[in-house]
Amino acid sequence: MKALVLAGGAGTRLRPITHTSAKQLVPVANKPVLFYGLEAIAEAGITDVGIVVGDTAPEIRRAVGDGSAFGLKVTYLPQAAPLGLAHAVLIAREYLGDDDFVMYLGDNFLIGGITDLVERFREERPAAQIMLTKVADPRAFGVAELDTEGRLIGLEEKPEHPKSDLVLVGVFLFTAAVHPIVADLTPSRRGELEISDAITGLVDAGCRVEATITEGFWKDTGNVTDMLEVNRLVLEGMEPELTGVVRDSELIGRVTVAPGAVVRNSRVVGPAIIGPGTVVEDSYLGPFTSVAENCQIIDSELEYSVVLRGAAIRGVRRIEASLIGHEVEVTPATRSPRAHRLVLGDHSKVQICAYS
Ligand code: DAU
Repeated sequence: MKALVLAGGAGTRLRPITHTSAKQLVPVANKPVLFYGLEAIAEAGITDVGIVVGDTAPEIRRAVGDGSAFGLKVTYLPQAAPLGLAHAVLIAREYLGDDDFVMYLGDNFLIGGITDLVERFREERPAAQIMLTKVADPRAFGVAELDTEGRLIGLEEKPEHPKSDLVLVGVFLFTAAVHPIVADLTPSRRGELEISDAITGLVDAGCRVEATITEGFWKDTGNVTDMLEVNRLVLEGMEPELTGVVRDSELIGRVTVAPGAVVRNSRVVGPAIIGPGTVVEDSYLGPFTSVAENCQIIDSELEYSVVLRGAAIRGVRRIEASLIGHEVEVTPATRSPRAHRLVLGDHSKVQICAYS
């Protein structure tokens, strides 16, 4: 069995955090979302992984390398343009051969891994095995239509009027039966070869498609509230590791201080993670906070937040429920008049405390 991981896409720089990086590299508890997928694949006993890459190929290659760090053998499959998820299967045809495969969307996060799923597929070998989950607004997903007995009738991609609130999660298992269906697909309204059409095609062809309902799914949608929540969930399950330097500080609960990080004269309440090379000084870090590598948190208070690589926060209290991007600087305005002084990138969102 092989894995096909999708880490392509247009590199459209729309959301604050994907301005400067691939969406599959958005960090959750200081680790790119893509890495959780690769670890789940390795854990399920799969070693041969094809990674589909597009515009952001150099970044993905830099992050994943040959896959040996994950115990995987990675083959990169360049996709000339992001023509759809089923198009990715099409270009991977030769790599996949006639093997069964798990297809994993690199920007999807699944709590609990895929081992059980893969085992069940190996035993039962339906033509396809998919997962569905309930979301509040299904219109941005593939939406399932089920019959009265809960069997899948088909999937509709990003419908204006969804027929249910059950949407397609981005981890699918296929046998080689999917290939002739994919080869026959035509582009959808949005000009893509849709995996939801391929799955519907399998149902229509009378092939067995197993759909199970699951919870614990997250996808990078640029929604900060969801991102903070998935960060919280992962931090909650993490084992603490203290390898950095801690001086004159109080660490409470599960706190990870990475190698090369320094915590001085501060109070950190876990679960929290402090990345390599980061300095936390004269500060308070509250629960559910992830600070990435090479950041500076000096004389500040921060809680339930995610801080990305190279950011500096000095003399600021108090930051809560926030996402601070790469290389961002947050400092107090020093001169009068007392005013907020902002240099914000495109699509930034700022909420300023009205009482300060
Ligand atoms: O996340 C689940 C959803 O994923 C499903 O509910 C939908 O049915 C399915 O079509 C897909 O929808 P999205 O429009 O959200 O997919 P997105 O364009 O975000 O692509 C998913 C991943 O695949 C992402 O990591 C980028 C990568 N990709 C995407 C396309 C279109 C490729 O590698 N190549 C491509 O051509």
